Parts: sequence; structure tokens; C-alpha cells
Amino acid sequence: MAAQGGRNSAGRTGATEPAAAPAPGLQGRRILFGVTGSIAAFKAAGWVRCLANEEARVTVVMTRAAEQFISRLTFGALSGNRVHGDMFASDPEGIMAHITLSREADCVLIAPATAQTIARLAHGLADDLLSAAVLAADIPVVLCPAMNTNMLHHPATRDNLDRLREIGYTVIAPASGSLACGEVGAGRMPEWDLVRETLLALFADQDLAGRRILITAGPTREPLDPVRYLSNRSSGRMGYALARTARRRGAGVTLVAGPVNLPDPPGVRVVRVTTAVEMRDTVRTLAEGMDIIVGAAAVADFRPRTCQERKIKKRGAVTSIELERNPDIMAELGRNRRPGLLLVGFAAESHDHEQEGRRKLEEKNLDLVVVNDILGSRTGFDVETNQVTLLTARDRRRLPLLSKEATADRIWDRVVELATP
Ligand code: CTP
Repeated sequence: MAAQGGRNSAGRTGATEPAAAPAPGLQGRRILFGVTGSIAAFKAAGWVRCLANEEARVTVVMTRAAEQFISRLTFGALSGNRVHGDMFASDPEGIMAHITLSREADCVLIAPATAQTIARLAHGLADDLLSAAVLAADIPVVLCPAMNTNMLHHPATRDNLDRLREIGYTVIAPASGSLACGEVGAGRMPEWDLVRETLLALFADQDLAGRRILITAGPTREPLDPVRYLSNRSSGRMGYALARTARRRGAGVTLVAGPVNLPDPPGVRVVRVTTAVEMRDTVRTLAEGMDIIVGAAAVADFRPRTCQERKIKKRGAVTSIELERNPDIMAELGRNRRPGLLLVGFAAESHDHEQEGRRKLEEKNLDLVVVNDILGSRTGFDVETNQVTLLTARDRRRLPLLSKEATADRIWDRVVELATP
């Protein structure tokens, strides 16, 4: 959309649009990556690659046991950096490595973390390079325990993990499933997505801590018969980006999502719905406990008056579909709002962007409206980027073209300002 509520002509005419700013991610973050002796070490190789792809700066420290499972060469090639392992390396870079490694890092990630390494760290031992480097570190430490279920549940390991949590280390709970030892249970390495989010949260301001936030996302589907429905092109990406970024910033997040093809953001409660009425009912039930509600869903405004139980046959010659209005979820919330609840809506517009955004701000009694252009090639539906204008009763702020996550972060910045008296 254009600055004065006009149209984003660039999007439609194919004229050059500004390049999107990089996503807020792990780019440039310096990760000291400890790998210990578990068969899950091969997964760590994939994670190092993910970090390197994201342009994080990874330095790997391996224990001797880890080298039984995977070679230094693998991590050296994937990280592009020297791999450390010798406590008593005599070269100038290696000699003080147990001190310098953590000084030159923003956080430590140990994955997989074996029972042995966990015990070492819990007792403050410093008898190998990794444990000495962690002992010398005054940066955040994240552990991904991975081991046999019985080892994990052994009181000694549990006590050690409790001790590490007390110290302030972040312990990511192992996933459950079939383990390399043939048993089934807890002890697997978690999904990378969860680990990545944990790292991102370490680097994010926790300015939404303690806030309970509900976000609607995606389209709704309004059935016509058992095989057909009315819907729209919403992918849910903007709402999901809001959920991820809010979680990173410390909020308790509930996502009420229509049918979308996106993975659940780690740490977010996701409630799946299909129709607008289901979404309204779910939001109504959950609204009670919320501090902030964001309507990022593209709720279908109309639904077929009747849903046929059986498939409509073409011989039946249906030439028109009778529609009825769906509830307007944000408008209902705006009408019945309790003091202190902050309401954020979106305005998906093809024309008269700002004017329409202001109308929705007032008519729905919202605190903030995020106006976006649905016709731009890099804004709106089904793309990774967005360019929005933030409207409040007092002012307007136009954001540049950004990734949807970066846009989400800027929306939260504004929400934090509005929520701070
Ligand atoms: N919204 C909603 N329930 C609806 C329709 C919209 O809660 N039945 C919310 C959306 O989630 C968004 C805001 O209202 O936060 C504006 O949605 P939008 O589709 O842009 O506008 P509409 O209210 O449908 O108005 P119009 O059709 O005139 O554009």
C-alpha cells in the first residue's frame, strides 16, 4: 500500500520493489556447539549445517567420546571453522581455548548432551575441554539431553538436570519415540525447530513476558456439500509469524488457526478450527483469560445458507448459492471488550487502504489495525514478505517491505508501546 492510503502500484505493475530486509534470525550469532558421545551426534551435524546456512558463526567442541561416533572433519566442513577437542593443544589458539571459546561466543549449545556430560557439568568438573569451557562461560547454556530412557529417568540424571536448571541452564526436554537402543520412550534429540526457537528466545527482549495472547490465523472454510467449500487464499503465515515471535518474546500464546499447511510453532498452544462460526466460538471461550487478541485470520464473511449432506450433482444444475453473513469476530470482541484487553486487527485491502483501515479501526473498536495490500506481488497472501501500515487512533506508521517474521516483530514493538501506560 502506498504512504497516503493509495495503492501499491509497484506490486501490480511489476515495477521494482524494495528488497526485503533479512529475517530476524540467528544470522551473525556466535554459537559454541558442544557435541558429546551419543549416536545422536549425527543429528548435530545437520543442525550445524542449518546454523551455517543461516549465517550463524558456529564453533564446534567435541568430547573424545563424540569422536567415536562422528569425525572432526564433518563438523569442520559443515561449520567452516576449526573443531576443538584437545584440552592440552599446544598451538597458540588451542592453549587457552577453554577460556577463549566462551568469550568469543554468544551462547553454548550442547547437543546431544549425554548423561556423562550432564553429570560433569552438574558437578562443576572441568576434566575435558567442553566442560572446562562451560565452567568458564558466563553466557547462556542450552542442553539437549539424548540417551536411553532409563538413563534419562534415573534419579542421578534427574538430579543432575535439576541442578543444571537451578544454575540457570536451559534444558530442552528430549522428544519421545523409538531410540537407537531399540527401546521406545523419552530420550531422542528434539526437533531443530524447537531448538532454534529456544536460541532465538535467548536473544530476544522478553518484553511480552507474562502477557497472554490469542491470535487468529489462516482462512476459514465454509462447506457447501461434503466435497466443496468457500474459502480464500490466506496461507496463515502472518498469524503464525506473530505467534512465533510473541512466544520468543516471552508471551503465552494461543493460536486459533483455520485450515493451513504450516507446522505448529514450538511452545504455542494451537487450536484448529474450520469454519468462521467455530473460530468465533473458540475465540469467545478463550478470550476471557487474554490480555491481547490479534485477528490475523482471513475470516470468510459469508457462508452458504445450507450445507448439503450429499454431493451436489452437476445434473442438479445449481446456478446460484444462497449465502448468509458470518459473525465478525473482532467486531464482537470490540463491542464487548473488558478494560485492559488490547485488540489488534488486520485490514486486507485492494484499494483505499488507509481509509478502509481507519474505518475498521473505528467500527470494530480496535486499538491497532495492520493494513496490508493484498494485490502486491510481495505483500499479502501466500508470500514470505509483507509491507504494512500500522494505524492507531492517534497515528500511522508505515513499515518497509520485510519478512513476515520481521513485520510481526515490528507489530509487537508497537503493541508493547500501546500496552505500556
Ligand atoms: N474479521 C473477523 N471476522 C470476520 C471478518 C473479519 O474477525 N468475519 C477480522 C479479521 O481477522 C481482521 C479484521 O476483522 O482482523 C478485518 O478483516 P478484513 O477481512 O480486512 O475486513 P472485513 O471486516 O471483512 O471488511 P471488508 O469485507 O469490508 O473488507
